[in-house]
Amino acid sequence: MLELKGISKKYKDKLALDDVSLALDNGIYGLLGPNGAGKSTLMNIITGNIKPDAGQVKWNGKDIALLGAEYRSILGYAPQQQGMYDSFTGRRFLSYMAALKGIRKKQLCDEIARVLSCVNMAEAADRSIGAYSGGMKQRILIAQAILGDPKLVVLDEPTAGLDPKERVRIREQISALAGDKIILISTHVVSDIETIAKEILLIKSGTMTDHAPVADLCRKYHASGLEDVYMQLFGKFSNF
Ligand SMILES: Nc1ncnc2c1ncn2[C@@H]1O[C@H](COP(=O)(O)OP(=O)(O)OP(=O)(O)O)[C@@H](O)[C@H]1O
Ligand SMILES: [Mg+2]
Repeated sequence: MLELKGISKKYKDKLALDDVSLALDNGIYGLLGPNGAGKSTLMNIITGNIKPDAGQVKWNGKDIALLGAEYRSILGYAPQQQGMYDSFTGRRFLSYMAALKGIRKKQLCDEIARVLSCVNMAEAADRSIGAYSGGMKQRILIAQAILGDPKLVVLDEPTAGLDPKERVRIREQISALAGDKIILISTHVVSDIETIAKEILLIKSGTMTDHAPVADLCRKYHASGLEDVYMQLFGKFSNF
């Protein structure tokens, strides 16, 4: 179980997160909000990459700041930014990340084959990442996030740059992975999460304005679907 308590974060005088509290148990959660809402900041705080100015993140009741390596071993994270490791092949990158995660040599080959097949990248695994298309880079990034079957998977706009076919594939794969883990996905694209998320977390200007299952949100906002909710809350639909 992941708990956020009173998380706030400022960048100079810009308040990026304002007193966000939340409790997540197993299932898929869609973090939905417009550009600059604070999605990546929240994910960076959950993954321990940046420290909040106030508040705590707890994993099974323990502050993640005190868990260290133990927390990293149950965590998979695909950041929004990419562009590192261009000289590595996909397979080498995955094997490097697997080593960082402490995955044993004996399991390495099978585990890399598993995640490559999940994101449909087995054939391109031995080409260098620098020569991948944007969508292929994105898929390798997702593959490393699910190495070692982590209990907490944080994906920051995982479908950005993917074509509709791959978008659907990734959505199905993510959906199949859920069950015994927490998966948090940020997106501006409602269709990525509308059918698979157990709960939608709506974030605007650093504030968690609502969190509820899609059906409850639709009822509350008298909306025909999640896109309608998004439009009502955040205005013009943005998709990039
Ligand atoms: N390193 C930083 N320094 C200063 N301001 C920052 C920094 N990172 C983020 N911000 C600001 O904090 C706010 C939240 O940014 P964040 O990247 O978390 O939003 P986001 O919801 O992920 O947006 P997007 O949909 O564009 O990825 C924005 O106003 C942004 O300009
Ligand atoms: Mg972001």
